[in-house]
Amino acid sequence: MRGKFISFEGGEGGGKSTQAVRLAGFLRSKGLDVVETREPGGTQQGEELRDLLVQGDPDRWSPFSELLMMTAARVEHVNRLIEPSLAAGKWVICDRFLDSTLAYQGIAGGLGLDMVRPLQAKAVGDTLPDVTFLLDVREEAGLQRAEKRGGAARFEKKQAEFHSKVRDGFLALAAESPNRIVVVDAEDTFDAVWQQIEGEMKQRFKL
Ligand code: TMP
Repeated sequence: MRGKFISFEGGEGGGKSTQAVRLAGFLRSKGLDVVETREPGGTQQGEELRDLLVQGDPDRWSPFSELLMMTAARVEHVNRLIEPSLAAGKWVICDRFLDSTLAYQGIAGGLGLDMVRPLQAKAVGDTLPDVTFLLDVREEAGLQRAEKRGGAARFEKKQAEFHSKVRDGFLALAAESPNRIVVVDAEDTFDAVWQQIEGEMKQRFKL
């Protein structure tokens, strides 16, 4: 049987990565075969593009160049890892997927969803997440957390206004797809956030 595809989304410092690790452990405890991956990244090609994308000055790349590189990384990821894993019955947990491109490049970057969506449809085909957890956090709180983690990556250095558009963008996407995108209040404690995710997973997939 085909596996399930779960993505985590949100602005900076929402705790996606730690919740994704916890979810992987939970699914494995249920006997499922789990692949943990991330975007941009997940393949050698994608990780090479990631290095170009997340390092350097905020204006190193234009939103259009970001769109093309993020999408190139995604095409390799879908074709080489995500789709074959799902077809083999594995459950794939992905830290960011195409909603990030819609929010960061399409909405905050100003390219517009009408431009970004058709390219994403071409890139991923039918490989869409079964469920997406949007870890929502006020941008100031998220950026503070991200800063503590260190290494201020390229996108984190963009202006506050950019991050506020990212957040609003994600919430607008969630409002458009309420069945797929589950909004989780990520300013709550780690355990409280996990409980929301676990509850949703149990209910949705009868785990
Ligand atoms: P991460 O540090 O959360 O893994 O993500 C790397 C950065 O890349 C993050 O600041 C968001 C950004 N990003 C985009 O702008 N568009 C995309 O499509 C993806 C996947 C990530």
